[in-house]
Amino acid sequence: MTPLLDESVQSHYACPDLAKKIRAGIERSGKNVEDLSVRDLGPVDQLHTGGGPATLSLMEKAGLHQGAEILDAGCGIGGSSRLIAEHFKLNVTGIDLAPDFVDTAGTLTRWCGLDRKRNINFRQGSVLDLPCEDLFFDAVLCQHILMNIRDKATALAEFYRVLKPGGKLILHEITDGPGPAPRMPVPWAADTSISFLTPWKEVTEIMEKTGFTPEFFSDETGNSALWWKKVNAFTAKSPPRPLNPGIVFGDNAALFGPNMEINFSSRSVCCIEAILIKP
Ligand SMILES: C[S@@+](CC[C@H](N)C(=O)[O-])C[C@H]1O[C@@H](n2cnc3c(N)ncnc32)[C@H](O)[C@@H]1O
Repeated sequence: MTPLLDESVQSHYACPDLAKKIRAGIERSGKNVEDLSVRDLGPVDQLHTGGGPATLSLMEKAGLHQGAEILDAGCGIGGSSRLIAEHFKLNVTGIDLAPDFVDTAGTLTRWCGLDRKRNINFRQGSVLDLPCEDLFFDAVLCQHILMNIRDKATALAEFYRVLKPGGKLILHEITDGPGPAPRMPVPWAADTSISFLTPWKEVTEIMEKTGFTPEFFSDETGNSALWWKKVNAFTAKSPPRPLNPGIVFGDNAALFGPNMEINFSSRSVCCIEAILIKP
């Protein structure tokens, strides 16, 4: 990624004082940060379609052993890192380009007390040049991030480099679909300047060239449209929740639900789950 593109992506996800804003939301919802569970953060820290249940069901399919080393690539504010570290007893390293997100991921993890129970840490960096040693991880989780990556071949080669032989690449991604151009804004971009949607077939070709072999694939586009429909129905009939994605994304967040429901229903974009192996 060029430095200029890095800056545009960082600026899309910039959110000064994010932990402070989330703390205010937690307190408004009647909880306090001294006594917080990982799941209490669900309404604000799961920055992907399907929320926590989608992550847990995909990770279940990967069948990882307790204590396995996982890279959460483009971890956001660490929602999935915390969930899988706690649920599957995994060691998790989260890496993200956005400094505000990395700081917040560490703070939220401390508030949940998870840093004392599991080996979980967060670092700022790019998936195009991972600050990680070769052959270290048992799995890489890549969840709703490739849409921001123009140079997918380099990112996938980096995932391959840091995985052990037999390691798994676990993808939960949004790809280009056969429908009309997607409605914007969407969670990963306010406009097309930092949105790099690629058809799944092309992503597969790059992964196979990199050396990965496919193990599991599921087209989740229909389920994703339904998930957003439920989110929209809930939002329409309930008062705004004190913890919500607007804290992270600002006013645009109100348009994500309607746009994503249409984008998935019309197959402008697709949602895929896949697991690949480094032989
Ligand atoms: C839509 S969010 C998803 C976050 C998280 N995976 C989740 O599902 O909650 C996309 C994330 O990718 C990160 N990202 C984008 N480009 C990146 C890059 N080159 N290297 C590392 N992270 C990147 C963004 O900063 C953002 O946190």
